[in-house]
Amino acid sequence: MQSNFPSPFTDPEGFRLLMLGDVMGSAGLNSVVKLLPRLKSDWNLDFIVVNGENSDGFGMVPDSAKKLLNCGVDVLTGGNHTFRPKAIYKFLDSSNQILRPYNLGSKKTPGRGFNIYDTPKGRVVVINLIGQIFMDPANNPFHAFDEIEELIKKKDVKYIIIDFHGEATGEKVAFARYVDGRASVVAGTHTHVQTSDERILNRGTAAITDLGLCGSKDSIIGMQPEAILKKSVHSLPSRLNPAKKNCSIQGVTVLLDSMSGKPLIISRVDFPSDIS
Ligand SMILES: [Fe+2]
Ligand SMILES: [Fe+2]
Repeated sequence: MQSNFPSPFTDPEGFRLLMLGDVMGSAGLNSVVKLLPRLKSDWNLDFIVVNGENSDGFGMVPDSAKKLLNCGVDVLTGGNHTFRPKAIYKFLDSSNQILRPYNLGSKKTPGRGFNIYDTPKGRVVVINLIGQIFMDPANNPFHAFDEIEELIKKKDVKYIIIDFHGEATGEKVAFARYVDGRASVVAGTHTHVQTSDERILNRGTAAITDLGLCGSKDSIIGMQPEAILKKSVHSLPSRLNPAKKNCSIQGVTVLLDSMSGKPLIISRVDFPSDIS
C-alpha cells in the first residue's frame, strides 16, 4: 500500500531526524500517538525530538510524557510551562529522555537541560534552551550554549540538536546565527505558530524559527477560541482549555550527513491527524 506520507528523505545513509512543535493537550497528544509510529516506520526515522511542555495543557505530567515516549519519541523537550505540575519533578530527575531549559533555574531545579544519546549512526546531543525576550527571567541562552559546548567538546558528539523555546523571532534568528556551524539543528518552539523560514545557514546549521503546534488548528494557538476572546475582548476572566477539533502535527524533518553531522535538507511537516 502506498504511504500517505511521502518520504522527504533521499539519502538512505543519512541521519533522519524528526522534530515536532509543542504538543497541546489531549487532542495534540492523541494526534502524535496516532501518527508518529507510522511516520517512524514509513520514513525509517533515526531520532525523534518533540516539545512536550503542553502535553497536559499547561505542563507535562508523567502520564502524558510516558504516552509520547511509548509511541516512539526519543527526547521530550520543555519550556516555560515545564515546572507547573509538581508531578513531573521526579520524572525530570529520573528520565534522561526528558529535558527542561538548561538556562532556567538553579542547581537545585529538577531535571537537566541537555543530554547525550548514542545511536547506530553516531552520538547525539539534544539541548533545550529558553529565550529571555518576552519570557520569564532566564540566564543568557547564548552563554549557556557556549558552556554546554565546552562541556561536550571531548565527547565525540556528531549531531547537536537544539530546541530554543522563545517568543521573539529576532532572538531565535540571532541564536541560530550565533551557533551556525557549531550546531546541526536549531528549532524554535513556544509560539505554536509554524514559520516558513526553514533553511540551512551559511556555515551548516539547519534552522526554523518555530516548529509550530501539534493540536487543534480550529483554535487560538491550541486553546478554545471562545475563552481567549472572552478575556481579550471583554477583559473577563475565563478558564482556558485546549481545543480538540481539526488537529494536525507540525514540525520539521532534517536529513543530516552521517559523516560530518551537517544538515543536507530541512523540510516542514504539517499533517492533519484525521488522515486514514
Ligand atoms: Fe512555552
Ligand atoms: Fe507551548
